[in-house]
Amino acid sequence: MKKVTHIHTAKSAKLSTPTDLGGRAREAVSNVINPLIADAFALYVKTKNFHWHVTGSHFRDYHLLLDEQANQVIAMTDVLAERIRKLGGTTIRSIEQISKLKHISDDNDAYVAPKEMISRLLHDNEEFCHAHAGST
Ligand SMILES: [Fe+2]
Repeated sequence: MKKVTHIHTAKSAKLSTPTDLGGRAREAVSNVINPLIADAFALYVKTKNFHWHVTGSHFRDYHLLLDEQANQVIAMTDVLAERIRKLGGTTIRSIEQISKLKHISDDNDAYVAPKEMISRLLHDNEEFCHAHAGST
């Protein structure tokens, strides 16, 4: 499958919003921010996955920690997506687009030990930062 690197902006999806940016600059901003949004969605699902499936003697602490983190991650998506729209660009429309733009890998393991969950999320959060460093 061909790797999608940006989302095409149809003329009908463009907003007539005031901005100093030209069309190419607006498109460039969208192309940088949309993968960030996709990764935030992927990281949100992965964090919620661990929130739901965590086990062990520290269940309550990890369960609450992961929920708090998931909420912080998902809160990014709305601000970023609406920023793109304010510039007249097009943003994420579907799980399919998220899947094509994200860098964060899925985690379908039937069981992950609690400390391994934290380790994997640490790695993913680092990936998230490195993949988008200097891009916003
Ligand atoms: Fe919950």
